[in-house]
Amino acid sequence: MDGRQVNAMAGNSAGNESAELADYSDPHRVAYGELPEGHFYDPDAEYEPDPEYAATLAPDAARQRRERIGPTGRPLPYFPIPGPVSEPGPAKIIAMCNQKGGVGKTTSAINLGAALAEYGRRVLLVDFDPQGALSVGLGVNPMELELTVYNLLMERGLAPDEVLLKTAVAGMDLLPSNIDLSAAEVQLVSEVARESTLQRALHPLQNDYDFIVIDCQPSLGLLTVNALTAAHKVIVPLECEFFALRGVALLTETIEKVQERLNPELELDGILATMYDSRTVHSREVLARVVEAFDEHVYHTVIGRTVRFPETTVAGEPITTYASNSVGAAAYRQLAREVLARCHAE
Ligand SMILES: Nc1ncnc2c1ncn2[C@@H]1O[C@H](COP(=O)(O)OP(=O)(O)OP(=O)(O)O)[C@@H](O)[C@H]1O
Ligand SMILES: [Mg+2]
Repeated sequence: MDGRQVNAMAGNSAGNESAELADYSDPHRVAYGELPEGHFYDPDAEYEPDPEYAATLAPDAARQRRERIGPTGRPLPYFPIPGPVSEPGPAKIIAMCNQKGGVGKTTSAINLGAALAEYGRRVLLVDFDPQGALSVGLGVNPMELELTVYNLLMERGLAPDEVLLKTAVAGMDLLPSNIDLSAAEVQLVSEVARESTLQRALHPLQNDYDFIVIDCQPSLGLLTVNALTAAHKVIVPLECEFFALRGVALLTETIEKVQERLNPELELDGILATMYDSRTVHSREVLARVVEAFDEHVYHTVIGRTVRFPETTVAGEPITTYASNSVGAAAYRQLAREVLARCHAE
């Protein structure tokens, strides 16, 4: 689908502020020359949208199901329920990265990790932000920690097991962090191969996990470069808000530089639209623009805005356990399935 069609769809839905108003007889639909009904029909596809996720495809879930259009305005593929795995590893390392603050990096790291663990994957979450928000989000008090990811980076000979914490989610472990990590940014500057310190620290853990998810801090400094050097994939959460795309050029430039100079394996896995509110024209327009700019890089899965996420931080657990039947939990399960489908497609 090209940008014009995406825009047409965004424009088309602009007049429909509620689910009830959006239907086939909508005159805007004809005026904008939307694709005819059944256009995306693929008789070979065994399409059975996950019912929980389909419920999030507002403003008109029924229509979108019929037309198989996902919230990004593109045909929604079916992501199969992942089968079991026997031996863990070697781990795919994913950096959750955007230098813009408050876009949903930490929330996505926790909940993607928990959803992957629900599907039987062994997951390690790495809190790589001195704020320690990921640790807090999993019920850990960073101030009480003696050993954190900082020690693992700076002290040679320290075994990862001494720092690792088990989480309440079966199969998901945590490398916690706290304010100590901010010193690493300065101390690493004088180290040899300073950009690959995290990569070296994670190396012994590669075969214990299927996924290692690194939650980056909101900056493009040395810590984030370390995360990108250690990673195979980057996920970029983008908030569906004004200026969502501001700064993304700098981020992709940084990713490319790391690719060229430090880590040729690094790839952008996807752009994740977060805090999407299907009821507002604005959110839909931002999403359409993001799809226009990044096309297939944008995940089909979109994370809606809901107060359940801030609640989970207070509760200190992922949404998949805190509100297992919520749309937020369904969205991150769908994301896990999409991420796994992308991995298997390689
Ligand atoms: N889909 C969502 N709907 C509503 N609130 C959300 C959603 N995702 C995250 N939030 C809330 O938005 C705030 C910022 O989210 P989060 O901490 O995940 O972002 P971040 O990118 O990690 O921020 P920082 O850059 O500060 O590390 C948090 O209070 C979180 O609970
Ligand atoms: Mg964060």
